[in-house]
Amino acid sequence: MRQPAHGGNLAWAAALADCPPDAILDFSASISPLGPPSSAIAAIVSQLSNLRHYPDPNYSELRLALSHFHQLPPEWILPGNGSAELLTLIGRELSQLAATMLMTPAFGDYYRTLAVHNAKVLEFPLDLGARELGVRKQGGQKRDVFLSSPHLPIPASQGCGLLLNNPHNPTGRLFSRESILPYLEQFALVVVDEAFMDFVPPDEEQSLISVVPEYGNLVVLRSLTKFYSLPGLRLGYAIAHPDYLTKWQLWRDPWPVNTLAAAAAIAALEAQEFQEQTWKWLPPARNQLFQGLTDLPGLQPENSAANFLLVESKQSTSQLQQKLLKQHQILIRDCLSFKELGDRFFRIAVRSDTDNQRLLAALKLVLSAEC
Ligand SMILES: Cc1ncc(COP(=O)(O)O)c(C=O)c1O
Repeated sequence: MRQPAHGGNLAWAAALADCPPDAILDFSASISPLGPPSSAIAAIVSQLSNLRHYPDPNYSELRLALSHFHQLPPEWILPGNGSAELLTLIGRELSQLAATMLMTPAFGDYYRTLAVHNAKVLEFPLDLGARELGVRKQGGQKRDVFLSSPHLPIPASQGCGLLLNNPHNPTGRLFSRESILPYLEQFALVVVDEAFMDFVPPDEEQSLISVVPEYGNLVVLRSLTKFYSLPGLRLGYAIAHPDYLTKWQLWRDPWPVNTLAAAAAIAALEAQEFQEQTWKWLPPARNQLFQGLTDLPGLQPENSAANFLLVESKQSTSQLQQKLLKQHQILIRDCLSFKELGDRFFRIAVRSDTDNQRLLAALKLVLSAEC
């Protein structure tokens, strides 16, 4: 079986660990351990009898719920079959420009969609050594928030696109809204993938959604996969000028979002208690995991605004991954598919306290056996 280029490949991990897939403790996919919200599951069950009907092709109810959630007119919002589906449409849009600037290391699916549409790609690496670039600011509840800037060069030609990810996967860096805004004057189209922005509490978030109506060249992508733990349901949405969204709708199949996903999404957006619980849970859980990793020999995690940590390792990460799998049935995300990171980095999701402690104990054993 081939090495996966994405987290969460349990069949591959189980074959290596010689155990059933559900025995694997999965730190490789950055999915919240708190969800899905029970109201989303209840909404799915309540809609089972409606499976005999087609979904509303305009997703009016879902768009209205998203419109209330983001305080934007429904015509500016397009739901999709996960944000991956919308990335495919955006790749086609970007391919019509002179080139697309891609901040790297980048989520692998960006390469897929840009390549499939023959888009010209200009890669611009983040300064991985510059951890100190993060400006420490006092966030809500007197927490430290690390805000950084992508520091991208201005494109040589007019008419280029820019594809950014905020918070950034795999580093977890959070770019300030102010550091991205100038790019809207310099690029023909700016796409900001905010798949992990929900994890940043409201008083610290840096979303560009509120400025979409001011910029006809801005697209923001969101996903319900990570925050609401719904990767199997497939629900994401794009926020952009209606002219783009109307065109993209013609580029795709009808009914990309099924009835159950639409109902679950509406319930999830209304699950305020779940949202608050997540914002309360994540910062201390992430800090504790961060501290535990820092205390282990040869490991250095990055500050992260998301529900995962990128960790630099003095030892080969693929060997570490194999040992954790075979000896402890724990799966971490190696970073071999991010060519800028290679075998010296791994990424882990923040999970429950019990799971995080299990990972730290396993890492301690594996690393001490190496010394
Ligand atoms: C940065 C980023 N964007 C988008 C996605 C795709 O999410 P979805 O499940 O909504 O297609 C992922 C999934 O790993 C991701 O990491």
